[in-house]
Amino acid sequence: LNFNKVHFVTSAPDIRHLPNDGGVEIAFAGRSNAGKSSALNTLTKHKNLARTSKTPGRTQLINLFELEPGKRLVDLPGYGYAQVPLEMKLKWQKSLAEYLQRRESLKGLVILMDIRHPLKDTDMNMLEWSSHRQLPVMLLLTKADKLSPGPRNNQVIKVRQAVANLGSQIQVEAFSSLTNIGVEKLAQTLTEWYVS
Ligand code: GTP
Ligand code: MG
Repeated sequence: LNFNKVHFVTSAPDIRHLPNDGGVEIAFAGRSNAGKSSALNTLTKHKNLARTSKTPGRTQLINLFELEPGKRLVDLPGYGYAQVPLEMKLKWQKSLAEYLQRRESLKGLVILMDIRHPLKDTDMNMLEWSSHRQLPVMLLLTKADKLSPGPRNNQVIKVRQAVANLGSQIQVEAFSSLTNIGVEKLAQTLTEWYVS
């Protein structure tokens, strides 16, 4: 599977505006500013496929990308960010929840957390919910370049222990869009999800 051969399909405010619910979708979810859009750009080796920003809340729509017919990647709006009007926040939460609950083609979730601040309440909700829907999860501890190897590995081990009882389908890895830590593992896991 060539992740480099990706193209933008559409941005949608909610699932009603998404194209046909067929094939396989793998979505990137996580708190605002966790590095979802950056990880998608790194995986696909595109600088600006998904828009990134220093300002949390950059991704406000469900963004769909296609690798091959029936194989898509999804950049979701971040959760847990307060600096937007409440009405907008509720609207995003609703469309995010709808996407996660109703999208049949959703076959796997990449959940991203800053390696320095993992497993917040909203993250735990996402993980629990994923296990309800029995979706495989790859948990990426992002911005791993911010920690030296010792603390980085400790953090990975800590998070692995913390999620061990949530379900066997959670793979925890360190990741960095800056230094490419974990990119190969991400590509490998996604390739497996697309074929199975
Ligand atoms: P929203 O769309 O707002 O939910 O954010 P997002 O999760 O898509 O985060 P985004 O990829 O836009 O990155 C947020 C900020 O973190 C940007 O300033 C990025 O440059 C920075 N960032 C992302 N990944 C990394 C990383 O691996 N290492 C470092 N050092 N910074 C990163
Ligand atoms: Mg984003």
